[in-house]
Amino acid sequence: KRMALTSKVLGEAYGLDRHDVKILYKAAPLHDIGKIAIPDHILNKPGKLTPEEWETMKTHAQIGHDILASSELEVLRAGAVVSVGHHENWDGSGYPKGIAGENIPIFARIAALADVFDALINKRSYKHAWDIEDVRKFFVEMNGVKFQPELVDLLFENEAKLLEIQR
Ligand SMILES: [Fe+2]
Repeated sequence: KRMALTSKVLGEAYGLDRHDVKILYKAAPLHDIGKIAIPDHILNKPGKLTPEEWETMKTHAQIGHDILASSELEVLRAGAVVSVGHHENWDGSGYPKGIAGENIPIFARIAALADVFDALINKRSYKHAWDIEDVRKFFVEMNGVKFQPELVDLLFENEAKLLEIQR
C-alpha cells in the first residue's frame, strides 16, 4: 500500500494522466512478484548475499515480467513493465538489461524510486530503518545515477506527503 501510494504521488507530480496514474497505482506493487521464484533462504538472509545468491536474486525482475507479460489485463501488463524495469538505473548501471534514461519506461522509473524510498525508510531483514536525513543524502547522491533527476526533485518537493503515507 505504501509503495502504491508513493508511486501515485510521484506519478501525479510527474504529470501522468489520470488513467496512467490509476494503472501505475495498481501495477507498482507487483514489482517484486518474481521473488516467488527465489528461495526463502536467500530472500530472508539477514546478512550480505554471496555473489551466487545475488545472481539468483537478480532473476526476479525478468521472472516477474514473464509471469505477467501475456495477460489480457492492462494492469498486469503494466506490472510486467514495472517488474523488469524496477532495477534498471538512470545511468545504465542496473539490471537485467542495463538500459538507461528514458529507455527505462516511466512506470518502472517511478516504481524504482518508490521502492527504494520505502525500503530505506523502513526496516528490512538486511538493514535497519534509516533516518530521513540519511535518506535525503542517499537520493542526492543517486540523483542522475540510479534515478532520473526530475523524479528526485519531485520526491523532495513531495516529501511531506510521502512521509504522511509512511505514517
Ligand atoms: Fe526488486
